[in-house]
Amino acid sequence: MKVAVIKESAQGERRVALVPEAVPRLRSAGLEVLVESGAGEGAWFPDSAYSEAGAAVVSRAELYSGADVILTVTRPAPEDTGRLRAGQAVFGMLSPLTDPALARDLAAKHVTAVSLDGLPRTLSRAQAMDALTSQANVAGYKAVLLAAAAFGRFFPLLITAAGTARPARLLVLGTGVAGLQAIGTARRLGAMVSGYDVRPASKGEVESLGATFVELTAVGDAAGEGGYARELTAEERQAQQAELSGHIARHDVVITTAQVPGRRPPLLVTEDAVKEMAAGSVIVDMGASPLGGNVAGSVPGETVVTGNGVTIIGAQNLPSTVPTAASNAYSRNISSLLLEMVKDGSLSIDTSDEIQAGVVIAHDGAVVHPAVASLPETEGGDRVDGASD
Ligand code: NAI
Repeated sequence: MKVAVIKESAQGERRVALVPEAVPRLRSAGLEVLVESGAGEGAWFPDSAYSEAGAAVVSRAELYSGADVILTVTRPAPEDTGRLRAGQAVFGMLSPLTDPALARDLAAKHVTAVSLDGLPRTLSRAQAMDALTSQANVAGYKAVLLAAAAFGRFFPLLITAAGTARPARLLVLGTGVAGLQAIGTARRLGAMVSGYDVRPASKGEVESLGATFVELTAVGDAAGEGGYARELTAEERQAQQAELSGHIARHDVVITTAQVPGRRPPLLVTEDAVKEMAAGSVIVDMGASPLGGNVAGSVPGETVVTGNGVTIIGAQNLPSTVPTAASNAYSRNISSLLLEMVKDGSLSIDTSDEIQAGVVIAHDGAVVHPAVASLPETEGGDRVDGASD
């Protein structure tokens, strides 16, 4: 079976789905590895490193005609899905709940679609395959570096002959994987760190990293299904925003990571809360999206400075900005999943298996993932419109 690695086509995407180090692992399982020329360049893996590891470096046309399985990081571009043929499989982060049209398109072409973002993350044997976690870790780390670079003061307490600098006060809103990594990174840089989440279980995790957990009286337990948060009601949302604003005003740096699966990111930092912050404060909105993010006024991919001197960084695809680390981790995730699904040298689809039930989206001409199959034809990205502020 031929496994092929494409050069990512999304604008600015620097990650690669498989790094040279993973090639011998796949070859020892009896798989041939094809790599599109230049696929690893953005993450500093030259073609020569793939050849030395035992892969064949090929053109894009050769790749699409020869591959049985195509490995990608993000969704393939429309012109690439047009090149796919029946019997091939695509593994990647295909976001089928927000882009069911791609799943339907692949099903219609009798292409098998396997999406790493559907993995049952709490299953211990799935942890090596958990790309959402590995990429969120990279993003949380980079968010702190962006904040530190934009901040006009030091993060740590510094006592020097030229005077004493007090440490920065940093608040992380949403303490899942990315938020906890942001807390750890900010602590290592010497900031005084606090964290807040609507899931009470995260209190112990925040405190174990040496940060202070912020508890709000306005919102109780909002833990939802599968370890995620549930969406707050309109009343809860308003109470949360009002109570949070006092905490936000007392911090120099705020990093927001809050997400609710299938919904637009909740607004946590209102325009009024931004106005209460001191000049020179920095906010990194990891929830920034075209539909709105965790912070009023954030623009994905842009840095905005408000009239009162607050810098708001609309983070976009942070994992791609640490491309080598992100690719190394993703490569381990995708090759573990692939090898889990290969039996006797070929792909073995069995959706009665707990892992495959989560990741196999399309197979044998049909959308087989129940949650994706149940989405109406016109729905998908618009599911996230349901929330309001
Ligand atoms: P995520 O990226 O979907 O969301 C980030 C955080 O935002 C979450 O902690 C969520 O509770 C929080 N949030 C949502 N709405 C909020 C609001 N209105 N105000 C404040 N915070 C809000 O979550 P992520 O990081 O992907 O992980 C979510 C959960 O999955 C966590 O419980 C994590 O520990 C768990 N998990 C478990 C794994 C395992 O068991 N192996 C692996 C990975 C994650």
